[in-house]
Amino acid sequence: MNVLTFDTEEQIGIAAGYYMCGQVLQKPDSVLGLATGSTPIKAYKQMIELYKKGAVDFSQVTSFNLDEYVNLDVKDKNSYHAFMHDNLFDYINIPEENINFLNGNAEDLQLECKNYEKKIKACGGIDIQLLGIGSNGHIAFNEPADSFQRWSHVVELKESTIKDNSRFFNSIEEVPTRAVTMGIGSIMQAKRILIIAIGEHKAKAIKQLIDGNVTPKCPASVLQFHKDVTLMLDKGAASLI
Ligand code: F6R
Repeated sequence: MNVLTFDTEEQIGIAAGYYMCGQVLQKPDSVLGLATGSTPIKAYKQMIELYKKGAVDFSQVTSFNLDEYVNLDVKDKNSYHAFMHDNLFDYINIPEENINFLNGNAEDLQLECKNYEKKIKACGGIDIQLLGIGSNGHIAFNEPADSFQRWSHVVELKESTIKDNSRFFNSIEEVPTRAVTMGIGSIMQAKRILIIAIGEHKAKAIKQLIDGNVTPKCPASVLQFHKDVTLMLDKGAASLI
């Protein structure tokens, strides 16, 4: 595991943005696995900057997002679909038809999950997966549990995650209680993984990820078994390691 610590969130954004773009420069038709949340925003800003400068071209890129809420209109500002367009897709040139999300409004969510996995496979797998981490150690919406869920699936969100995410909604009651998410197996199959963590509230989960027991009680700990993981941390997130 490659653990990098930075002084500021700005620096992490720049480094992570370059890291993602480096993948695309090396392989223009890369398949990117993307995350939402506060953590990747500055990395996306950097990717936009590099695109605007003409340093990188996303026209052959395909993307797969990690997760989406169930029963939330994609036009809702809190949908992950809207988030990705507002923070990245509207400003770079990934062709719309190459952008993939799990559809949380699909009639048959199980089938939707199966098809998503098939599509990732058909595209040759994810070259680089960008991840944030929940304060409870979740990755994507793989919440602490008694066993690892392998492939994309429907999940009931934990109270702590609903509380964490309520900051984006008008009230906690508005936060959807279910989501569709890539599974641990889907994430582990990515060729490379980049995790960003910012803030002291992530420190415990980061410590467990790096040197705790590998357990579904802290889903991120499974990344110890991946061969190419880079962590970009600020001092707060790195404070217990
Ligand atoms: C988002 C996702 C989540 C977040 C995590 C951290 O697509 O998969 O696992 O990465 O909840 O969220 P932030 O970045 O808001 O602290």
